[in-house]
Amino acid sequence: MAAQDELKRQAAEKAVEYVQENEYLGIGTGSTVRFFIEALAQSRKRIKGAVSTSAQTSAALKSFGIPEVTLNEVNGLPLYIDGADEINHLLQMIKGGGGALLNEKIVASAAEKFICIADESKYTSRLGHVPVPVEVMPNARSLVARRLLKFGGEPELRLGFTTDNGNQILDVANLNISEPIKLEDAINGIPGVVENGLFTHHPADLLLLGCQSGVQVLT
Ligand code: A5P
Repeated sequence: MAAQDELKRQAAEKAVEYVQENEYLGIGTGSTVRFFIEALAQSRKRIKGAVSTSAQTSAALKSFGIPEVTLNEVNGLPLYIDGADEINHLLQMIKGGGGALLNEKIVASAAEKFICIADESKYTSRLGHVPVPVEVMPNARSLVARRLLKFGGEPELRLGFTTDNGNQILDVANLNISEPIKLEDAINGIPGVVENGLFTHHPADLLLLGCQSGVQVLT
């Protein structure tokens, strides 16, 4: 039986097939993305430049000699590749386990196509087995936490963590995610919330799921 990391690697390697040469590419954050960057560097494919979503991804790009560009320098992105903490059959996701959800959502929204790479443990019939990360302005942290309690969630401050944008994260467990689109909007409607990790307006277009039986391609 292949270990979880091996399944992540297989999904990541498959994603390289979808990369267009001499084009810009958006790249997410996390351990699966790290495998993707490694596989891209080892392939013969050369891209014009990558739009990174975190300092962690920028460091990996640099170490593999892949050129980085900012979102402001590109006029549209054909493709965005990223992992997920959970993904359902509609390819809606919970993201932000690595704390990069804001930049991930911005870059994902700029792309024509979003390919999610994940191992099979991330696939779920219903979102909500993992907490929803909510990025908050530090001065509004307690206010937002109290509002999230009223939503039925159990917010917990991610201790010792600051996002690349200087904000904090509340990880919110036990939310009722029966209507993910409404919940994504409702959480973002709380003053002080910068962004949350529900990706329903920007679901993936394609999921490459590393399974024991091989990589499954789901749309
Ligand atoms: C980063 O903020 C997240 O959205 C990641 O995409 C997610 O946590 C997946 O991470 P792994 O690839 O490490 O499982």
